[in-house]
Amino acid sequence: MPTLKYFGHSAFRIQDDKHTVFIDPFLTGNPVCPVKFADILACDYVLVTHGHADHLGDALELAQKFDATIVATWELANWCQSKGAKKVHPMSSGGGRDFPFGRVKMTVAFHGCGGDARADGSVPPPNTPVGFLITWGKTKVLYHAGDTALFSDMKLIGEKPRINLALLPIGDNFGMGPDDAARAMEFLDAECCVPMHYNTFDLIKSDPLAFAFRVEKGGRKCKIMKPGEKIEL
Ligand code: NI
Ligand code: MN
Repeated sequence: MPTLKYFGHSAFRIQDDKHTVFIDPFLTGNPVCPVKFADILACDYVLVTHGHADHLGDALELAQKFDATIVATWELANWCQSKGAKKVHPMSSGGGRDFPFGRVKMTVAFHGCGGDARADGSVPPPNTPVGFLITWGKTKVLYHAGDTALFSDMKLIGEKPRINLALLPIGDNFGMGPDDAARAMEFLDAECCVPMHYNTFDLIKSDPLAFAFRVEKGGRKCKIMKPGEKIEL
């Protein structure tokens, strides 16, 4: 049974007995993350939605420590390679690819495209922000929206295959707030959602209960995960 672990902000890990995949692994420097980088014991793939520091996070360090493959847009993947990641897999929005753990489709997201300076002074190049539609082992379908505004083409993203679990930003200011994220659930028509990208910093303070209330009123499920919490998919 695959599990989903939440590290706070937009950082997640999907894992089964064969594969470990991180998405936007913002661990170091994440004020709500309950684990340290040194606590991570396995990583095969790192999916990165965009080059902002709160999403790129420890991707390069995970790639180096575990010889993991970074999956990101062409621009960001190439930059990661230039920074020492031995294995990268470039994609672009709209494209899908089969990996050992399942299928990944890169989806559009509406957000900033810059990069934040890293400790060594290097800055990721401009890179298109994306989301990920992940079909884990041909059965479970997850959607990580990345940082994004609400957009009506979420209807297309949710059309086929049906999304089991949608990970949606609700923190407002830099992307969807609770109202738009609840609307996103209507567009996606996913079975269940997990709110993310909130209460990490003051600028993205948001009430997950208010979001859950709106989602459930629409007849869909919402699971509020605490940082460090793990659920079965
Ligand atoms: Ni961002
Ligand atoms: Mn962000």
